[in-house]
Amino acid sequence: MTRKPLRSQAWFGRQDKMGFYYRSFLKNTGIPQDQFDGRPVIGICNTWSELNPCNAHFRLIAEHVKKGVLDAGGFPLEFPVSSLGEVTMRPTAMLYRNLASMDVEEAIRAHPLDGIVLLMGCDKTTPALLMGAASADLPTIGVSGGPQLRGMYRGAAIGSGTNIISMSEQLRAGEITIEEFHEAEAAMNRSSGHCMTMGTASTMASLVEALGVGLPDNAAIPAADARRNLLARMAGRRIVGMVEEDLRMSKILTRQAFENAIRVLAAIGGSTNAVVHLLAIAGRVGIPLTLRDFDELGRDVHCLVDLMPSGRFLMEDFSYAGGLPVVLRRLGEAGRLHRGAITANGKSIWENVKDAPSWNDEVITTTEKPFKPNAGIAILTGNLAPDGAVIKPSAASPHLLRHTGKAVVFESIEDLHGRIDNPDLDIDETSIMVLKNCGPKGYPGMAEVGNMPLPRKLLRQGVRDIVRISDARMSGTAYGTVILHVAPEASAGGPLALVGNGDRITVDVPARSLHLHVSEAELAKRRAEWTPPPPPADRGYTKLYVDHVLQADRGADLDFLVGKSGAAVPRDNH
Ligand code: FES
Repeated sequence: MTRKPLRSQAWFGRQDKMGFYYRSFLKNTGIPQDQFDGRPVIGICNTWSELNPCNAHFRLIAEHVKKGVLDAGGFPLEFPVSSLGEVTMRPTAMLYRNLASMDVEEAIRAHPLDGIVLLMGCDKTTPALLMGAASADLPTIGVSGGPQLRGMYRGAAIGSGTNIISMSEQLRAGEITIEEFHEAEAAMNRSSGHCMTMGTASTMASLVEALGVGLPDNAAIPAADARRNLLARMAGRRIVGMVEEDLRMSKILTRQAFENAIRVLAAIGGSTNAVVHLLAIAGRVGIPLTLRDFDELGRDVHCLVDLMPSGRFLMEDFSYAGGLPVVLRRLGEAGRLHRGAITANGKSIWENVKDAPSWNDEVITTTEKPFKPNAGIAILTGNLAPDGAVIKPSAASPHLLRHTGKAVVFESIEDLHGRIDNPDLDIDETSIMVLKNCGPKGYPGMAEVGNMPLPRKLLRQGVRDIVRISDARMSGTAYGTVILHVAPEASAGGPLALVGNGDRITVDVPARSLHLHVSEAELAKRRAEWTPPPPPADRGYTKLYVDHVLQADRGADLDFLVGKSGAAVPRDNH
């Protein structure tokens, strides 16, 4: 077994009063004495919750992980942490990502654990668990819960989020009935698992694999496919070996691993949310990642997968086509992968994928005939976003990537909802919608409201996209010419706060610029008149969050959580 004294032996290896306590109370759950003999204790960090339907099957996954741990001679102990359900949490699950990461980090450190299996699914559960585990830095393997089967409505495939957005616009435009809308609700989410478009959950599951934290095929096997359970069992077996090899997170989460993840993000046309999450995870392990890295590393990477929201297919199709190993192989063959990056199974990422077969070149296109060329996330800067803003060109309308228009400003999401369908709203298809006070501090929590709904009067004219700018995020399942994560945000006094109705704005994605055509003198005058919005809370976690959250260009982590404390055994409690 392990060559190094196991951390858990500081609890279970003691032959004194405290050793009695530590062992005896676990024995009331049916644990025999031999489980305390120095075998690796594996914590299964579970985000199961009935309030988080995407993770509702995680008890079953945990059982398969346990079997794997036992197969390999480890001692599994499952424990719960906060579960962040994207659809049910208000004001936004993102407000609680950092809180959940603290829960994970402290739970790992406080308990007699030698290795960790992270069970992750719905959007924020993945970055929260990766961040917390990275700060604790034990040997850790990630297991994603898997995407749902494809939605099927009236004989056609429909995708989570993506078709919700298009159908709600059709409903607003009077093109479908409320009965059809209700029927589609049940048809869309028809199996266990998380959103099955290449939204944030599928993007983050792909990045778990690309970073090397998960096993090959982690990203795409549907939750309802028995191979997901097999993957969980194999992860349970493998974590025991990782403890013996002392293969900690910090050994896997290297600069090369993050660069691979950024390229994969481009190659899968992944969610813009991943930018914030990767920055935050990198911050926990001391890797200096910046927005510029996303632009530079993703710039010459083609989007290879024809998946919604940008394309036609869904994660189930991606799995049958060969899944992420095919994308990784094609990146490697194109010289866009650090082949030597080590992964959780102890092999390099290239060893894992070099022979990965592709079964459908329509779903996973080739680098010679990519689904979309040069599809990385673009980072815009200028006097409207001095610290950067994010756009996903592959989800935008090509004719709007270079555009100048007049601003139609909304001071808050409530202001937007109150006026968007006012027939007197002065807006046309050349306008630029600007939404303020939806950033990390402003909302608070940086909600997914950046893909603002279009005014009904424009929808009725057949307009389906106009330029939208905000300090918010957008759902990974959304699309459109949407500029997000403007930093600094309006509530922190960024220039976005100073935009007025009718101001001219130029978006130039090829030149990577975002410019507000207002003179410095006028901006200074507006700044002198600007007052910050009142704080959203005067106590509790929300106050802690608002007082300490970093801006989007730094991952929106809490300033005091950046870095790691490791997993040294805490002081004894007697
Ligand atoms: Fe959970 Fe989309 S709502 S992944």
